[in-house]
Amino acid sequence: MAHTESRTVSFDSLAPVYRAMEFIAAGPMLQQCRTAFLPETRNCRRALLLGEGPGRFLMELVRQNPTMEVTCIERSPRMLREARSSLQRTGLNGSRVTFIEGDALTWSPPVDRFDLIATHFFLDCFRPDELRDLVPRVGSSAAPGALWLIGDFCLPDHGWQRQRARAVHALMYAFFRRTTGLSARRWTPPDADLASAGFMRIGRRHFNLGLLQSDLWSKGPR
Ligand SMILES: C[S@@+](CC[C@H](N)C(=O)[O-])C[C@H]1O[C@@H](n2cnc3c(N)ncnc32)[C@H](O)[C@@H]1O
Repeated sequence: MAHTESRTVSFDSLAPVYRAMEFIAAGPMLQQCRTAFLPETRNCRRALLLGEGPGRFLMELVRQNPTMEVTCIERSPRMLREARSSLQRTGLNGSRVTFIEGDALTWSPPVDRFDLIATHFFLDCFRPDELRDLVPRVGSSAAPGALWLIGDFCLPDHGWQRQRARAVHALMYAFFRRTTGLSARRWTPPDADLASAGFMRIGRRHFNLGLLQSDLWSKGPR
């Protein structure tokens, strides 16, 4: 059941309008969340980006790390096309970026290869059973001391901010379930899966009254 459902997910129909949609719904906030810990990547050499979509984080990463090699695994061919052409339009050197059309849920990553993983607004696409499999498998591709940057929606612990965030999540999941076939019904914090895969949290920032969260994790001590 789990895998049959996940195979039908496609962000293709949203790809051409995704950036405009983000701009209308959230202005600069999602990009702030994606890039909150970008300065920490300055010593990283090999990055893995999963579900990168149209490439907003990719462009900043490449701009600020001119010698970094980047691998992007993205399931939607149209999102991949958007990311490629964004890179070309900005004149950034795309030769260091490898785009792979693939499903992160079934992809077998090389072991201990990357010193940076970034997943922005990606882990929130998955159900708890999917995350339990995905996080340790992707985590195995990280070298000791590697960083994992995670920008995502989240839920504040209490108060009206939590109620507000719950309402936003409900709308968002209804929208994405309808337009992309997403099977997740709610946000699952990935913290426990990251910790059991050997990662420790070394930074966390919240944005937009606790609706958005930017995390920095490290595989063991740095
Ligand atoms: C909500 S969008 C986020 C896009 C981008 N990372 C951002 O920050 O806006 C989720 C992205 O993950 C991709 N995706 C979803 N499931 C995937 C999977 N199993 N493997 C690879 N990519 C996947 C989608 O095609 C889409 O581009």
